[in-house]
Amino acid sequence: MTKKKNQDISVLFVCLGNICRSPTAHGVFEKMVSDAQLENRIYIDSCGTGDWHIDHAPDKRSASAAKARGYDLNHLRARQVQHTDFNQFNYILAMDNNNLSDLQAMCPSDYSGELALFLDYAQDVDIREVPDPYYGGDSGFDTVIDLVENASQSLLAHLQKHYDF
Ligand code: 4NP
Repeated sequence: MTKKKNQDISVLFVCLGNICRSPTAHGVFEKMVSDAQLENRIYIDSCGTGDWHIDHAPDKRSASAAKARGYDLNHLRARQVQHTDFNQFNYILAMDNNNLSDLQAMCPSDYSGELALFLDYAQDVDIREVPDPYYGGDSGFDTVIDLVENASQSLLAHLQKHYDF
């Protein structure tokens, strides 16, 4: 999906493979933004720091856990982060500290957006990273959605306040 002309805020979710955590954040936040009728203002994308899964659909376990909560991930395809993302995105939100350090190593010194951990926006949780569910059981995928829903709600509230929607 390409950015629409009047979308003035852009948010990029980043994990390692772009098949589990960041597409979940992409799909969940996309639905919240659409429900708030802000899809014409906020552009959303996701990517991975790694290149193993380029063009792959989200992991089936992520897609089915998301579907059970009413979120569709099927239209998403993985891509790798690029240097030009720092020109385009106001918010670049990493799922864990490894993703964040990889992004910090690429980040231009004059980047004027926000590069942070996504869970900096989460309320009432004592963890800062979205745990990687790839090698674990099904419950890990539900945990990802719990954390992503929490942080997405607060991120949307932050944007609504900050940009006066
Ligand atoms: P993600 O999960 O970073 O949440 O998409 C992973 C997906 C694939 C791999 C690791 C993590 N992998 O090693 O292939």
